[in-house]
Amino acid sequence: MPAFPPDTSPLDTGPPGPGPLETGQSRLLRGPGEQRHFGAALAPALPPAAVLFLEGELGAGKTTLTSGLIGALGFEGPVTSPTYALIHAYPTPAGRALHVDAYRVRGVQELYELDLEDLIAGSRLSVVEWGERLYADYPDAPILRLEHLEGEEDVRRVTRLR
Ligand SMILES: Nc1ncnc2c1ncn2[C@@H]1O[C@H](COP(=O)(O)OP(=O)(O)OP(=O)(O)O)[C@@H](O)[C@H]1O
Ligand SMILES: [Mg+2]
Repeated sequence: MPAFPPDTSPLDTGPPGPGPLETGQSRLLRGPGEQRHFGAALAPALPPAAVLFLEGELGAGKTTLTSGLIGALGFEGPVTSPTYALIHAYPTPAGRALHVDAYRVRGVQELYELDLEDLIAGSRLSVVEWGERLYADYPDAPILRLEHLEGEEDVRRVTRLR
C-alpha cells in the first residue's frame, strides 16, 4: 500500500503557488489553465504507485486537472475522459499513468476482475474517478472533490476531502 512520507504533504503545491491543500480545505480555480496548473503542481510530491481519487459531476474539471497532472509527468499528448473505456493508460517518462473512471463499474467484483489492483501497483500514478468503493483499500490516497459554483461558469472549486 502506498504511504506518503509523514513529514511532507502529498498535495504540497510548493512556491510560488498558494501552498498545500490540507484535508478539509477548498480552493477556487479560475479557468482551465488554473485547473491544469493545480493538477500539475501535485506531480512533484507523488509517492511511488500514487493513487488520487477525484469526485465531481459532469464538466466539473476532472479531466482538465488530470491532464495537468499527467502532462507534468512528461506525457505530451491529449488526455481525454475515460468514460467509455473505463481505463486510459498513458506512457510517461516517469512510468505509466492510469486514468480510471469507475462510474459504470457495477461492483467491487468487476473492479477486481479488471485486475485494477495490479494495474495500480504497476503504475507511477493512478487517477481514479468515482472510486469510492476503493477508498478503504487505499487509505493514504487523497480524495479531491471538484464542483461548479452556481452562476459562475468560469470557476471551479476543489476541496480536499481526505
Ligand atoms: N477551473 C475551471 N474554470 C472554468 N472552466 C473549467 C475549469 N476547469 C475545467 N474547465 C472547463 O470545463 C469543461 C469540462 O471540463 P472537464 O472535461 O475537465 O470536466 P470533467 O469533470 O472531466 O467532465 P466529464 O465528467 O464530462 O468527463 C471544459 O470545457 C474545461 O475547459
Ligand atoms: Mg472527464
